[in-house]
Amino acid sequence: MAINMRGESLISINDLSQEKIWQIFDLSSSLKYKLMKGEPHQLLAGKTLGMIFSKPSTRTRVSFEVGIYQLGGIGLYFGPNDLQLKKSESIPDTAKVLSRYLDGIMIRTFEHQDVIDLAKYGTIPVINGLTDLLHPCQVLADLFTIFEKKKILKGLKLAYIGDGNNMAHSLLHGCSKVGMNISIASPKGYKPKKQIVENALLNAEYTGSKIEILDDPVRAVKNADIIYTDVWASMGQEGESDKRKKIFKNYQVNTKLVKNAKEDYLFMHCLPAHRGDEVIDEIADSPNSVIFDEAENRLHVQKAIMALVM
Ligand code: CP
Ligand code: NVA
Repeated sequence: MAINMRGESLISINDLSQEKIWQIFDLSSSLKYKLMKGEPHQLLAGKTLGMIFSKPSTRTRVSFEVGIYQLGGIGLYFGPNDLQLKKSESIPDTAKVLSRYLDGIMIRTFEHQDVIDLAKYGTIPVINGLTDLLHPCQVLADLFTIFEKKKILKGLKLAYIGDGNNMAHSLLHGCSKVGMNISIASPKGYKPKKQIVENALLNAEYTGSKIEILDDPVRAVKNADIIYTDVWASMGQEGESDKRKKIFKNYQVNTKLVKNAKEDYLFMHCLPAHRGDEVIDEIADSPNSVIFDEAENRLHVQKAIMALVM
């Protein structure tokens, strides 16, 4: 039985039930197949998605804009200087005005609370395209990619090596929702937020996921099915780049580290990658790497999300 998600915002994977996650994946697969076969799938004909970007983007921008177009709608891009938002107009007023024109909003910004407020004061669905706290669309595409490759999610072990950032947080939510085990290795002071780890532990009580927050990357990677990493300095932290390079130097995904994983491990990265820092070319370009399939799946999964909520 289909679950009605119309009008719902997608702000955090933690708000989704397991059934809704699988519904998104089912539709993603069917839309991916239809696109490949050239079959029409204009599920959002005549609809408009507003896309607000306070930070740069390659994948999120292009996949949402192409995605809404393929669904028969149109995307409107608003860069950091395009709206009155926050400078001279509050989030509640912006949300109310945009709700009179648009059918949905995708937003990438710094403060997570801004996305929550946009959804709270507007009357149309809001999709989180990354905040400092979370990156749910990326992790839904990641889980979908893992399922395509491994044909299973429950019981797999994902090792995340690096900063306890938005990616680590959404991976904690995502893995714990679908019954995957997740081991995170980060230096002291750069661990994922306690609140997010608690969310994951609570989910794990129902799904049986094992959650580990470690210092040691070798231990995290032991027998992993998936090795995941992300940049050491995220957007907005560019000024800390040099300092972080020193702190994270033992958290590089390299040939020596991956030897601890299963032989058929998948290497994943949300991209953009800083090659030579968190990962070396030899791993990012190896046969185990699925980074470009992962990037492609942003398109299919986000089309499914838009079709379900708009
Ligand atoms: N992975 C991701 O969200 O990429 P962009 O920053 O290019 O959108
Ligand atoms: N952690 C990275 C993810 C980019 C997709 C950032 O926030 O910049």
